[in-house]
Amino acid sequence: MDQNALDQDALKEEVGRAAAARLEDGMVLGLGTGSTADAFLRALGARVAEGLTVRGVPTSERTADLCRQLGIALTDLERDPVLDLAIDGADEIDGDLNLIKGAGGALLREKIVAASAHDMLVIADSSKLVQTLGAFPLPVEIDPFGAAATLKAIERACADHGLTANAAIRPNIATSQADSAPFQTDGGHWIVDCSLKAIPEPAALDQALRAIAGVVETGLFIAMASAALIAGDGKVEEIKR
Ligand code: A5P
Repeated sequence: MDQNALDQDALKEEVGRAAAARLEDGMVLGLGTGSTADAFLRALGARVAEGLTVRGVPTSERTADLCRQLGIALTDLERDPVLDLAIDGADEIDGDLNLIKGAGGALLREKIVAASAHDMLVIADSSKLVQTLGAFPLPVEIDPFGAAATLKAIERACADHGLTANAAIRPNIATSQADSAPFQTDGGHWIVDCSLKAIPEPAALDQALRAIAGVVETGLFIAMASAALIAGDGKVEEIKR
């Protein structure tokens, strides 16, 4: 692993610890997905081992598995429909704390969980901060039925917003190139990645994409995060919306 990746991993651990340090006994949490969320879960697991009592709704099967290994109590939105705090990573964060999420393919559950929480705390290293969202490909979760038609509709909606989507169904990297089957989300959906370069009006694009029949959700999290903890330059900084 190169030095940059090692440094980035150290920042993820640092911000994960900072987020875990804020939690109080009895909290009901939303537990995010991704490498930064994993770092947070490891720090949370250490606090649970020391006696902290919390329970959390996992945003993916991967997160649920890690929680079981770490001894973090799990719940679900049937038992706990209102959460105190959702903690999750992001692929990009703009100055208004709008986000692109979904590189790990968990965006739908992440959005449902974040929407069920009083507050959403985003955790990231400073490489995730951007002026304008969109350099990172925007994931759009779709139903497999009629995927080709939905992909065209996504491209049209982007074009209506002056954007070229370069949309592609995400392949399952676990399978060989020869029969590259689509990646499947935990809910059995597919992901369309849109390489837009810049999204000047993310709220309008989010609305237009979600109005397409085959679209289940987008990776645009608009005005959902209440605060972000950002690790970089030897410190963890809090940004509030
Ligand atoms: C998972 O679907 C994503 O939304 C992640 O939260 C996001 O990709 C950030 O992941 P990393 O912390 O691994 O960069």
